[in-house]
Amino acid sequence: MNTRTILSGDRPTGKLHLGHYVGSLTSRLSLSQQATYSNPLKILIADTQVLNNDVSKSEHVKANILHLMRAYNAIGLKNCQFILQSEIPYIFELGTYLSNLVALNHNLRNPTLKSERQMYGDNLNMGFVNYPIMQTADILIFNATDVPVGEDQVPILLYGNDLIDKFHFNFNCNIFQKITPILSSSPRLIGVDGKNKMSKSLDNAIYLDSTDEDIYQKVFSMYTDPKHIHVSDPGQVEGNVVFMYLDVFHSDKEEVNDLKKQYQKGGLGDVKLKKMLFEDIKNVIAPIREHYYNLSDETLLAQLQEGSEMAFEEARDNIKRIKSFIFR
Ligand code: TRP
Repeated sequence: MNTRTILSGDRPTGKLHLGHYVGSLTSRLSLSQQATYSNPLKILIADTQVLNNDVSKSEHVKANILHLMRAYNAIGLKNCQFILQSEIPYIFELGTYLSNLVALNHNLRNPTLKSERQMYGDNLNMGFVNYPIMQTADILIFNATDVPVGEDQVPILLYGNDLIDKFHFNFNCNIFQKITPILSSSPRLIGVDGKNKMSKSLDNAIYLDSTDEDIYQKVFSMYTDPKHIHVSDPGQVEGNVVFMYLDVFHSDKEEVNDLKKQYQKGGLGDVKLKKMLFEDIKNVIAPIREHYYNLSDETLLAQLQEGSEMAFEEARDNIKRIKSFIFR
Protein backbone atom coordinates (compact mmCIF):
# COMPACT_ATOMS: atom_id res chain seq x y z
CA MET A 1 0.00 0.00 0.00
CA ASN A 2 2.86 2.37 0.66
CA THR A 3 4.35 2.23 -2.79
CA ARG A 4 4.79 5.66 -4.29
CA THR A 5 3.50 6.49 -7.72
CA ILE A 6 4.12 9.64 -9.71
CA LEU A 7 1.36 11.00 -11.88
CA SER A 8 1.68 14.10 -13.96
CA GLY A 9 -1.01 15.65 -16.11
CA ASP A 10 -1.11 17.81 -19.21
CA ARG A 11 -3.98 19.55 -20.87
CA PRO A 12 -3.73 19.07 -24.64
CA THR A 13 -4.13 22.73 -25.55
CA GLY A 14 -1.50 23.24 -28.24
CA LYS A 15 1.92 22.55 -29.62
CA LEU A 16 4.67 22.34 -27.01
CA HIS A 17 7.31 25.02 -26.70
CA LEU A 18 10.57 25.76 -24.92
CA GLY A 19 8.66 26.94 -21.84
CA HIS A 20 7.17 23.46 -21.48
CA TYR A 21 10.58 21.96 -22.12
CA VAL A 22 12.43 23.75 -19.31
CA GLY A 23 9.40 23.68 -17.01
CA SER A 24 7.70 20.34 -17.05
CA LEU A 25 9.27 18.12 -19.71
CA THR A 26 12.83 17.99 -18.40
CA SER A 27 11.61 17.33 -14.88
CA ARG A 28 9.50 14.42 -16.18
CA LEU A 29 12.57 13.09 -17.87
CA SER A 30 14.54 13.01 -14.65
CA LEU A 31 11.60 11.66 -12.63
CA SER A 32 11.10 8.83 -15.12
CA GLN A 33 14.72 7.84 -14.60
CA GLN A 34 14.63 7.78 -10.80
CA ALA A 35 15.04 4.34 -9.36
CA THR A 36 13.21 5.29 -6.14
CA TYR A 37 9.89 4.70 -7.87
CA SER A 38 9.00 1.11 -8.62
CA ASN A 39 6.01 2.01 -10.80
CA PRO A 40 6.44 3.68 -14.17
CA LEU A 41 5.74 7.39 -14.32
CA LYS A 42 2.12 7.90 -15.28
CA ILE A 43 1.39 10.71 -17.69
CA LEU A 44 -2.25 11.65 -17.94
CA ILE A 45 -3.41 13.58 -20.96
CA ALA A 46 -6.31 15.56 -19.56
CA ASP A 47 -8.45 15.93 -22.66
CA THR A 48 -11.71 16.19 -20.74
CA GLN A 49 -10.29 18.99 -18.62
CA VAL A 50 -9.73 21.09 -21.75
CA LEU A 51 -13.49 21.41 -22.07
CA ASN A 52 -13.64 23.11 -18.67
CA ASN A 53 -11.83 26.06 -20.14
CA ASP A 54 -13.64 26.33 -23.42
CA VAL A 55 -15.98 23.76 -24.98
CA SER A 56 -15.51 25.32 -28.39
CA LYS A 57 -11.90 24.08 -28.36
CA SER A 58 -12.95 20.44 -28.60
CA GLU A 59 -12.16 20.17 -32.30
CA HIS A 60 -8.47 20.82 -31.64
CA VAL A 61 -8.06 18.32 -28.85
CA LYS A 62 -7.20 15.31 -31.05
CA ALA A 63 -4.39 17.11 -32.87
CA ASN A 64 -3.07 18.45 -29.58
CA ILE A 65 -2.99 14.99 -28.03
CA LEU A 66 -0.68 13.97 -30.86
CA HIS A 67 1.50 17.02 -30.21
CA LEU A 68 1.91 15.94 -26.61
CA MET A 69 2.75 12.37 -27.59
CA ARG A 70 5.26 13.63 -30.16
CA ALA A 71 6.95 15.86 -27.61
CA TYR A 72 7.16 13.11 -24.95
CA ASN A 73 8.80 10.75 -27.41
CA ALA A 74 11.04 13.37 -28.99
CA ILE A 75 12.61 14.38 -25.67
CA GLY A 76 13.34 10.73 -25.00
CA LEU A 77 10.83 9.83 -22.28
CA LYS A 78 10.95 6.08 -21.77
CA ASN A 79 9.21 3.63 -19.45
CA CYS A 80 6.17 5.82 -18.99
CA GLN A 81 2.52 4.91 -18.98
CA PHE A 82 0.51 7.30 -21.11
CA ILE A 83 -3.15 7.61 -20.16
CA LEU A 84 -5.97 9.36 -21.96
CA GLN A 85 -8.32 10.79 -19.36
CA SER A 86 -11.52 10.41 -21.38
CA GLU A 87 -10.85 6.66 -21.73
CA ILE A 88 -11.12 6.16 -17.96
CA PRO A 89 -14.80 6.58 -16.95
CA TYR A 90 -13.96 5.65 -13.35
CA ILE A 91 -12.26 9.02 -12.91
CA PHE A 92 -15.60 10.69 -13.47
CA GLU A 93 -17.38 8.23 -11.23
CA LEU A 94 -14.96 8.93 -8.40
CA GLY A 95 -15.32 12.66 -9.11
CA THR A 96 -19.06 12.34 -8.59
CA TYR A 97 -18.60 10.71 -5.20
CA LEU A 98 -16.03 13.30 -4.18
CA SER A 99 -18.19 16.22 -5.29
CA ASN A 100 -20.70 15.45 -2.56
CA LEU A 101 -18.08 16.14 0.07
CA VAL A 102 -17.47 19.76 -0.90
CA ALA A 103 -19.46 22.94 -0.44
CA LEU A 104 -19.74 25.10 -3.54
CA ASN A 105 -18.32 28.16 -1.78
CA HIS A 106 -15.26 26.20 -0.76
CA ASN A 107 -14.44 25.57 -4.41
CA LEU A 108 -15.00 29.14 -5.47
CA ARG A 109 -12.48 30.28 -2.84
CA ASN A 110 -9.67 28.08 -4.15
CA PRO A 111 -6.76 30.37 -5.17
CA THR A 112 -6.03 28.55 -8.45
CA LEU A 113 -9.68 28.66 -9.42
CA LYS A 114 -9.97 32.29 -8.42
CA SER A 115 -7.11 33.45 -10.59
CA GLU A 116 -7.94 31.28 -13.60
CA ARG A 117 -11.57 32.28 -13.32
CA GLN A 118 -10.82 35.88 -14.17
CA MET A 119 -9.96 34.82 -17.71
CA TYR A 120 -13.44 33.48 -18.31
CA GLY A 121 -15.66 36.07 -16.66
CA ASP A 122 -19.31 35.12 -16.87
CA ASN A 123 -18.68 32.23 -19.25
CA LEU A 124 -17.50 29.98 -16.46
CA ASN A 125 -18.98 26.53 -16.90
CA MET A 126 -19.93 24.03 -14.19
CA GLY A 127 -17.12 21.72 -15.26
CA PHE A 128 -14.64 24.44 -14.43
CA VAL A 129 -16.02 24.96 -10.93
CA ASN A 130 -15.71 21.21 -10.46
CA TYR A 131 -12.22 20.87 -11.83
CA PRO A 132 -10.33 20.71 -8.52
CA ILE A 133 -12.54 17.77 -7.63
CA MET A 134 -12.02 16.03 -10.94
CA GLN A 135 -8.29 16.61 -10.83
CA THR A 136 -8.20 15.04 -7.37
CA ALA A 137 -10.05 12.07 -8.86
CA ASP A 138 -7.39 11.86 -11.64
CA ILE A 139 -4.82 11.38 -8.91
CA LEU A 140 -6.69 9.19 -6.42
CA ILE A 141 -8.08 6.72 -8.92
CA PHE A 142 -4.47 5.64 -9.57
CA ASN A 143 -3.36 5.88 -5.93
CA ALA A 144 -0.78 8.41 -7.07
CA THR A 145 1.26 10.06 -4.32
CA ASP A 146 3.71 12.36 -6.05
CA VAL A 147 2.48 14.94 -8.50
CA PRO A 148 4.80 17.28 -10.43
CA VAL A 149 3.11 20.61 -11.05
CA GLY A 150 3.86 24.29 -11.52
CA GLU A 151 3.57 26.64 -8.56
CA ASP A 152 0.13 27.82 -9.71
CA GLN A 153 -1.33 24.32 -9.38
CA VAL A 154 -0.22 23.69 -5.79
CA PRO A 155 -3.48 24.92 -4.20
CA ILE A 156 -5.34 22.31 -6.22
CA LEU A 157 -3.20 19.54 -4.74
CA LEU A 158 -3.61 20.87 -1.19
CA TYR A 159 -7.31 20.99 -1.90
CA GLY A 160 -7.01 17.33 -2.87
CA ASN A 161 -5.46 16.50 0.49
CA ASP A 162 -8.36 18.23 2.20
CA LEU A 163 -10.72 16.15 0.15
CA ILE A 164 -8.90 12.97 1.22
CA ASP A 165 -9.46 13.97 4.87
CA LYS A 166 -13.13 14.60 4.18
CA PHE A 167 -13.48 11.25 2.48
CA HIS A 168 -11.76 9.39 5.30
CA PHE A 169 -13.78 11.20 7.96
CA ASN A 170 -17.14 10.75 6.22
CA PHE A 171 -16.74 7.15 5.24
CA ASN A 172 -14.75 6.23 8.29
CA CYS A 173 -11.78 4.71 6.52
CA ASN A 174 -8.16 5.42 5.66
CA ILE A 175 -7.57 4.34 2.09
CA PHE A 176 -5.77 7.18 0.32
CA GLN A 177 -2.18 8.33 0.76
CA LYS A 178 -1.67 12.09 0.89
CA ILE A 179 -0.57 13.88 -2.28
CA THR A 180 2.89 15.44 -2.35
CA PRO A 181 3.47 18.22 -4.90
CA ILE A 182 6.79 18.02 -6.73
CA LEU A 183 7.87 21.48 -7.82
CA SER A 184 10.24 21.87 -10.72
CA SER A 185 13.31 23.90 -9.80
CA SER A 186 13.56 25.54 -13.22
CA PRO A 187 12.32 29.09 -13.64
CA ARG A 188 9.32 29.93 -15.75
CA LEU A 189 10.40 30.95 -19.24
CA ILE A 190 8.84 34.17 -20.41
CA GLY A 191 7.83 34.74 -24.08
CA VAL A 192 10.32 36.39 -26.46
CA ASP A 193 8.38 39.66 -26.07
CA GLY A 194 9.44 39.74 -22.42
CA LYS A 195 5.89 40.59 -21.34
CA ASN A 196 3.75 37.48 -21.40
CA LYS A 197 4.07 33.75 -20.97
CA MET A 198 4.59 31.88 -24.20
CA SER A 199 1.43 31.60 -26.23
CA LYS A 200 0.41 30.88 -29.77
CA SER A 201 -1.89 33.85 -30.15
CA LEU A 202 0.87 36.26 -29.13
CA ASP A 203 3.40 34.62 -31.48
CA ASN A 204 6.05 34.87 -28.74
CA ALA A 205 6.89 31.18 -28.34
CA ILE A 206 9.67 28.97 -29.67
CA TYR A 207 8.19 25.57 -30.49
CA LEU A 208 9.94 22.24 -30.08
CA ASP A 209 9.69 21.50 -33.80
CA SER A 210 10.97 24.96 -34.88
CA THR A 211 13.29 25.17 -37.88
CA ASP A 212 16.62 26.97 -37.47
CA GLU A 213 15.10 29.90 -39.35
CA ASP A 214 12.18 30.06 -36.92
CA ILE A 215 14.57 30.02 -33.97
CA TYR A 216 16.78 32.68 -35.53
CA GLN A 217 13.84 34.93 -36.23
CA LYS A 218 12.46 34.54 -32.69
CA VAL A 219 15.82 35.12 -31.03
CA PHE A 220 16.49 38.21 -33.08
CA SER A 221 13.05 39.60 -32.25
CA MET A 222 13.74 39.24 -28.51
CA TYR A 223 13.13 42.18 -26.25
CA THR A 224 16.39 43.57 -24.83
CA ASP A 225 17.02 47.04 -23.44
CA PRO A 226 15.33 49.70 -25.62
CA LYS A 227 17.80 52.32 -24.36
CA HIS A 228 20.80 50.26 -25.45
CA ILE A 229 21.14 51.80 -28.89
CA HIS A 230 24.86 51.88 -29.59
CA VAL A 231 27.22 49.06 -28.73
CA SER A 232 29.11 51.45 -26.46
CA ASP A 233 25.98 52.36 -24.43
CA PRO A 234 25.61 50.78 -21.00
CA GLY A 235 22.76 48.28 -21.10
CA GLN A 236 20.32 46.87 -18.63
CA VAL A 237 20.38 43.19 -17.72
CA GLU A 238 17.20 43.06 -15.61
CA GLY A 239 14.16 42.39 -17.76
CA ASN A 240 16.41 41.69 -20.74
CA VAL A 241 14.98 38.56 -22.33
CA VAL A 242 18.26 37.54 -23.97
CA PHE A 243 19.96 37.32 -20.59
CA MET A 244 17.00 35.51 -19.03
CA TYR A 245 17.33 32.87 -21.73
CA LEU A 246 21.13 32.74 -21.51
CA ASP A 247 20.75 32.06 -17.79
CA VAL A 248 18.71 29.00 -18.70
CA PHE A 249 20.39 27.72 -21.85
CA HIS A 250 24.05 28.75 -21.73
CA SER A 251 25.97 26.09 -19.87
CA ASP A 252 28.97 28.26 -19.00
CA LYS A 253 27.43 30.31 -16.17
CA GLU A 254 30.65 32.17 -15.49
CA GLU A 255 30.76 33.39 -19.06
CA VAL A 256 27.20 34.68 -18.75
CA ASN A 257 28.15 36.60 -15.60
CA ASP A 258 31.11 38.18 -17.38
CA LEU A 259 28.91 39.12 -20.31
CA LYS A 260 26.38 40.72 -17.98
CA LYS A 261 29.10 42.88 -16.43
CA GLN A 262 30.37 43.87 -19.84
CA TYR A 263 26.87 44.70 -21.04
CA GLN A 264 26.18 46.90 -18.03
CA LYS A 265 29.41 48.77 -18.56
CA GLY A 266 28.87 49.26 -22.29
CA GLY A 267 30.72 47.83 -25.26
CA LEU A 268 28.75 44.66 -25.84
CA GLY A 269 26.19 44.52 -28.64
CA ASP A 270 22.86 42.68 -28.71
CA VAL A 271 23.75 40.95 -31.97
CA LYS A 272 26.70 39.12 -30.46
CA LEU A 273 24.58 37.92 -27.55
CA LYS A 274 21.71 36.88 -29.77
CA LYS A 275 24.02 34.87 -32.01
CA MET A 276 25.30 33.04 -28.96
CA LEU A 277 21.80 32.37 -27.69
CA PHE A 278 20.69 31.21 -31.12
CA GLU A 279 23.41 28.52 -31.03
CA ASP A 280 22.41 27.46 -27.52
CA ILE A 281 18.73 27.10 -28.38
CA LYS A 282 19.53 25.39 -31.67
CA ASN A 283 21.52 22.79 -29.74
CA VAL A 284 18.50 22.04 -27.55
CA ILE A 285 15.91 21.98 -30.32
CA ALA A 286 17.81 20.21 -33.11
CA PRO A 287 17.81 16.72 -31.55
CA ILE A 288 14.18 17.09 -30.42
CA ARG A 289 13.08 18.26 -33.85
CA GLU A 290 14.90 15.37 -35.47
CA HIS A 291 12.74 12.91 -33.52
CA TYR A 292 9.55 14.96 -33.53
CA TYR A 293 8.12 13.48 -36.70
CA ASN A 294 9.85 10.09 -36.41
CA LEU A 295 6.84 8.21 -35.14
CA SER A 296 3.60 7.89 -37.07
CA ASP A 297 0.27 9.01 -35.64
CA GLU A 298 -0.75 5.36 -35.48
CA THR A 299 2.26 4.38 -33.37
CA LEU A 300 1.68 7.25 -30.99
CA LEU A 301 -2.01 6.46 -30.61
CA ALA A 302 -1.18 2.80 -30.03
CA GLN A 303 1.19 3.79 -27.21
CA LEU A 304 -1.56 5.87 -25.68
CA GLN A 305 -4.11 3.09 -26.06
CA GLU A 306 -1.87 0.52 -24.47
CA GLY A 307 -1.29 2.71 -21.42
CA SER A 308 -4.95 3.63 -21.20
CA GLU A 309 -6.10 0.01 -21.29
CA MET A 310 -3.81 -0.86 -18.44
CA ALA A 311 -5.04 2.23 -16.57
CA PHE A 312 -8.64 1.23 -17.16
CA GLU A 313 -8.06 -2.06 -15.36
CA GLU A 314 -6.22 -0.37 -12.51
CA ALA A 315 -8.99 2.20 -12.11
CA ARG A 316 -11.71 -0.44 -12.22
CA ASP A 317 -10.08 -2.40 -9.41
CA ASN A 318 -9.65 0.75 -7.39
CA ILE A 319 -13.18 2.07 -7.80
CA LYS A 320 -14.48 -1.27 -6.55
CA ARG A 321 -12.34 -0.92 -3.47
CA ILE A 322 -13.37 2.73 -2.97
CA LYS A 323 -17.07 1.93 -3.35
CA SER A 324 -16.81 -0.81 -0.79
CA PHE A 325 -16.07 1.91 1.78
CA ILE A 326 -18.87 4.21 0.62
CA PHE A 327 -21.63 1.62 0.40
CA ARG A 328 -20.82 -0.84 3.12
N1 TRP B 1 -4.51 21.08 -14.43
C1 TRP B 1 -3.22 20.60 -14.83
C2 TRP B 1 -2.54 21.71 -15.62
O1 TRP B 1 -3.19 22.47 -16.27
C3 TRP B 1 -3.29 19.36 -15.68
C4 TRP B 1 -3.78 18.17 -14.94
C5 TRP B 1 -4.95 17.49 -15.12
C6 TRP B 1 -3.11 17.49 -13.87
N2 TRP B 1 -5.06 16.44 -14.30
C7 TRP B 1 -3.95 16.40 -13.51
C8 TRP B 1 -1.90 17.70 -13.24
C9 TRP B 1 -3.57 15.55 -12.48
C10 TRP B 1 -1.53 16.83 -12.21
C11 TRP B 1 -2.37 15.76 -11.84
O2 TRP B 1 -1.34 21.80 -15.63
